[in-house]
Amino acid sequence: MAFDIETIRKQFPILNTSVNGRQLIYFDNAATTQKPKVMIDTLVDFYSNYNANIHRGIHSLANKATEAYEKTRQLIAQIYKVKPQQIIFTKNDTESINLIIQSLGKQILKNKKSNIVITEVEHHSNIVPWHLLRHEIDFEIRYLEFDENGILETDSLSRVIDRDTQFLSFTWASNTFGLIYDAKKIIRIARQLNPNIIVLVDAAQYVPHSIFDFQEIDADFITFSAHKMCGPTGVGILIGKKNLLEQMQPFLGGGDMIKEVSKYRTTFNDLPYKFEAGTPNIADVIAFGASLRYLLEIGFENIQAYEQELAQYLIDKIQELDFVDIYGTTHDTSRVIKLPILSFNVRGVHAHDVGHLLDEDGIAVRAGHHCTQLIMQKLRIPATVRASLYFYNTKSEIDAFIHSLKKIYDIFK
Ligand SMILES: Cc1ncc(COP(=O)(O)O)c(C=O)c1O
Repeated sequence: MAFDIETIRKQFPILNTSVNGRQLIYFDNAATTQKPKVMIDTLVDFYSNYNANIHRGIHSLANKATEAYEKTRQLIAQIYKVKPQQIIFTKNDTESINLIIQSLGKQILKNKKSNIVITEVEHHSNIVPWHLLRHEIDFEIRYLEFDENGILETDSLSRVIDRDTQFLSFTWASNTFGLIYDAKKIIRIARQLNPNIIVLVDAAQYVPHSIFDFQEIDADFITFSAHKMCGPTGVGILIGKKNLLEQMQPFLGGGDMIKEVSKYRTTFNDLPYKFEAGTPNIADVIAFGASLRYLLEIGFENIQAYEQELAQYLIDKIQELDFVDIYGTTHDTSRVIKLPILSFNVRGVHAHDVGHLLDEDGIAVRAGHHCTQLIMQKLRIPATVRASLYFYNTKSEIDAFIHSLKKIYDIFK
């Protein structure tokens, strides 16, 4: 499909909505993306025509639903070059991360000397589960720091990773800075420093824009959420190495994840079902398949090329405003790839006020700490405004956004 922005925009019904009397400008895509009609239609079709529980029925509807559910798993396996058994459906990225930490973390971090390494740019979903585990097990948490541009100091990996480091867990792209980090290089260095290290990559902000090859990246686990890539809410994805998934204890117990239950003992089902207890989010998994097919049809290379253009335009325009402070590098693009995600503050105006005033102009942004309080603490700011764009946004929307920022500054100056 040729990348035709007008055609693409028509495929997202919500983009026609008015907010406060203005045509919606949706710049909150890092929180959740909007949904194409083809995904919405798939949901309606499931509930209208073949709603049934999966894996248990012997009737036609159940078989059709099971087939459609498993088809999404097969598609994910094909895209990221893994086997379907390596893909676990959860309810979101957060649950995928918690599953690994609760299940494997508990098994591995038994030695008191153990440590794990995460980074200062992590979303809370890759910090808090480690804190929770520390209520039960004693281990050290070490941090890879970021520099004044928001870039991870990979040269310091050798200072934080040693023979007692059991896990390295980091985000592939920062939801606050909009920077993509070099996951492959980080993993290569980590494995040189400790060949036994287990690596978890939080790809929540990376996958909406790019495809990866699971083997090539050489992570042990990669996690993400469907809703950040044109999919429905309520579906998380966990991709893992088979040997590790086999060795892990289930995270939740119940129906579908068992082989046999006796009075005092349970044997578990094969992968991936061992980790999918209870009725899963059938409709949304099926609809996520439609989102993925839609994205593939547009082409991730087309999405990236267009987004790079948008990102550059946004940066150029906002840098013309001398009353705006920008966080995360905006100039040295030779060292980093910048997503069309930008954190900033209007000098002298609280981020929440900027957010509210933009909303009055129909522009949806996020204002706050973006679940990255460690970043805010290090930058000594309470909050930022975050404009996060996706492939259906346009340069004229950026112009309207810049115009609103100027108006806001004029009110407060
Ligand atoms: C980098 C990153 N990790 C994890 C998450 C959590 O995703 P979810 O809320 O879908 O579980 C987010 C959400 O914004 C994120 O940006």
